[in-house]
Formats: sequence, structure tokens, C-alpha cells
Amino acid sequence: MKIAETLASMREVRLSFDGTVGLVPTMGYLHEGHLSLVRQAKAECNHVVVTIFVNPTQFGPSEDLSKYPRDLDRDLKLLEPLGVDLVWMPTAEVMYPPGYQTWVEVEALTKGLEGAMRTGHFRGVATVVAKLFNATQPDKAYFGQKDAQQAAVIRRMAVDLSFPLEVIVCPTVREADGLAMSSRNKYLNEFERKAATILFRSLSAAKKLYESGERNAESLRETMKEVLASEPLAQMQYVSCADYDSLEELDTVSGKTLLSMAVFMGKTRLIDNFVLG
Ligand code: PAF
Repeated sequence: MKIAETLASMREVRLSFDGTVGLVPTMGYLHEGHLSLVRQAKAECNHVVVTIFVNPTQFGPSEDLSKYPRDLDRDLKLLEPLGVDLVWMPTAEVMYPPGYQTWVEVEALTKGLEGAMRTGHFRGVATVVAKLFNATQPDKAYFGQKDAQQAAVIRRMAVDLSFPLEVIVCPTVREADGLAMSSRNKYLNEFERKAATILFRSLSAAKKLYESGERNAESLRETMKEVLASEPLAQMQYVSCADYDSLEELDTVSGKTLLSMAVFMGKTRLIDNFVLG
């Protein structure tokens, strides 16, 4: 497993690869969700590149970049046995050289849901992912369904900017009790951790209602809200029942649909989603 920091050293290794390249972009502090993306990339591509970069431009002013969990040694130990060919860990100066002023904005898709709560977040995500695509030139790039809006934004951006690659969205990996894996789960105390299963239970209740034939989107949103309200530690920020591709809120569920939510568990903000249809 080669490790590179500069753009030139990463490019040198990348150019030595024959065959297809799968890219797994991450911000480090890896968990089983990331590792499942690496395994899928390994199964589908000749070479796997993982990037570890805590991207400052996707953090809002109230989101503490310096407190984002980091453990590079542990990350590298987790990646090595999976047969990763190259780990690129650029510094902020490599990604955003002095005088930086070029941005990628995906418009309508970033207005609602996470975009409405985290101004500028998706501009930072789309920009850094476009730069990672340009720098590493992958054939396939792997993202988790857990960040559903991010996946939709990146799929749109890849088409709009004619990136010659396939964006692959892989299923959310969950703990045994249903909690979606996330680097942020480490901030939960014992009580919040137990209570955090309420997101999965709320989504499951709406899915059950859908499976029993309910197609009224407001009824599904109400069900999610009611279940969330039954947990005193949970503070709902939003629930949504939206079209999977456009992310527009629905009146009636027909095609592929995204049920999603953001919930504060104490000071920790958790998101989760299910795809219906
Ligand atoms: O999902 C993440 O970890 C980040 O948003 C990504 C895609 C690596 C961009 O910084």
C-alpha cells in the first residue's frame, strides 16, 4: 500500500496503474461503512485508491473542524489488509493552494434537507469531490447511501461536468441495533447511544406503513415525527419524504422515494434514511 501526500507523488503512483481504478473518498476516522466501500471497490476494480482529507470547506462556521475525529495510524492499519493500492492524504494547502477561488455548485438539489440546515456544505463537498476526481482519474467512485443527499449531489455533478466515471452508491452499514454507522456516533454518551436507535425505529415505522399500502407522503412524515417524539433525548430537525432523484418533497409516493431525517441527540446531530420503491 503506497501512501502519498503531494499531488505529484500521488499522480506518479496513479499513473503506474494498469486497468480500472476505484476511488473511495473519505475524511478518515474509518468505520465499517467506509471499509464496505473499499471492499466493493476492490471487488469491482483492478486498483483501489482511498483518499483521507478532512475538507475544511464543507464545515460551517458553527461546525468545529478542529474537533472532527482523526486517527490516521488506525485508518492506515484498517486499510492495509483490504488490499488498498494507494492512500492519498493531501494537506489543506495541496487541495486549496494560496489564492484559491474556484468552486462547484450544484443548484436545486442542495437547497433543501441538509443543504437548508448547513449553508455552503454541499459547495464544499462538490468542490472537493470534483478535485479528487480530477486528481485521481478513477473509473468508479464509491459513496455511502447514509449521506443520501451528498450521493445525489455527486451523481448530478458527475453527469453535469462530464466526468468519465461511474458513481456507485453502496448500502448503509448499521450496528446490530439498527444505528447507522457514522464517525459522529463516538460523541454519543451511553444514554444517547441507546436512544439513537430511534432514527432507525422511526424510519422502520414509516416503511412498514408504506408496505401496508400507504402512499400519502404526509402520513409517512407524521409517522416518523410521532416515533421520534416518543424519545425524550431526540430533538428532530427535519423529516422528509422526497423523490429519490430530485429530492423534492412529495404529496403522493409513487416511484423511488427517500425517507430521511436529521435529529439532535444531545449535541450530536445524526442523519439517516431509507429508500422506498
Ligand atoms: O462523506 C464524506 O466523508 C465527505 O463528505 C467526502 C465525500 C469525503 C468529501 O469530503
